[in-house]
Amino acid sequence: MTRIIAVSNHKGGVGKTTSVVNIGAGLATKKRKVLLVDMDPQANLTLSFGISETNTENTIYKALLGECELVPIKVNKYLDVVPAELDLSGAESELAAEAGREFIFAELLDKIKDNYDYVIIDCPPSLGLLTVNAFTAASEVFIPLQPHYLAIKGLTKIIEVINKIKKRLNKGLEITGVFVTTYDRRKILHRDVLGTIRTYFQDRVFNAKIRDNIALAEAPSAGVDIFSYNPECNGAADYMQLVKEIIKMEKKINQ
Ligand SMILES: Nc1ncnc2c1ncn2[C@@H]1O[C@H](COP(=O)(O)OP(=O)(O)O)[C@@H](O)[C@H]1O
Ligand SMILES: [Mg+2]
Repeated sequence: MTRIIAVSNHKGGVGKTTSVVNIGAGLATKKRKVLLVDMDPQANLTLSFGISETNTENTIYKALLGECELVPIKVNKYLDVVPAELDLSGAESELAAEAGREFIFAELLDKIKDNYDYVIIDCPPSLGLLTVNAFTAASEVFIPLQPHYLAIKGLTKIIEVINKIKKRLNKGLEITGVFVTTYDRRKILHRDVLGTIRTYFQDRVFNAKIRDNIALAEAPSAGVDIFSYNPECNGAADYMQLVKEIIKMEKKINQ
């Protein structure tokens, strides 16, 4: 069965896109067929793979507006990407009056999802219609968090939205993974916040912690993931640990 995972946090700059790129690339090295979907109008995921916006005919935006199907671009044998374009920011208002607007992406994805073991959606830093479309299509939500007190405060909002989607649109949706980014275990604040997150989310918090690592910020400028950019760095080690935990969950899900 395909795992469809929305990576979401309405706060910007917490490592959503970095995580989607490197979880996807890591799963691909483990021979999982992966589709990454760029649902963010900033198109950072698309750009991280060196896919130029001007070269993309069939973007998620055109697909949501009904102008084309989802047409993935091949990154490697195991990894495909559905790109975004900056126009995507107009999609939310253009689709606002459409009947069944929350299900447009799910319907599109239904036609191709069986080709993949994983579909991972990079959500925008908001909880608007694009994120709702991702949540409606997904079975799982991963939430990356920076270990700050205000970051936990913001969680109430996303949990509220997920609960509403569960009730009204997608019964099967669950938060299955929470993890910290830019983590520094020497900082008391970081350890405290992680403790609070564990108290609330319990076994849904990954053991892997993504440390602050400049190579993670550099890799997108080379148009590659962290494993191609520098397989020896902390960023590669941390994301590989996360990938292994994600793969371990497969057994439980397939039971
Ligand atoms: N663990 C990390 N260490 C260092 N820089 C990071 C790390 N994770 C993300 N970044 C950088 O921080 C910025 C925001 O990350 P990004 O993944 O784009 O966040 P989001 O998608 O949530 O807005 C980017 O410039 C990215 O390269
Ligand atoms: Mg992003």
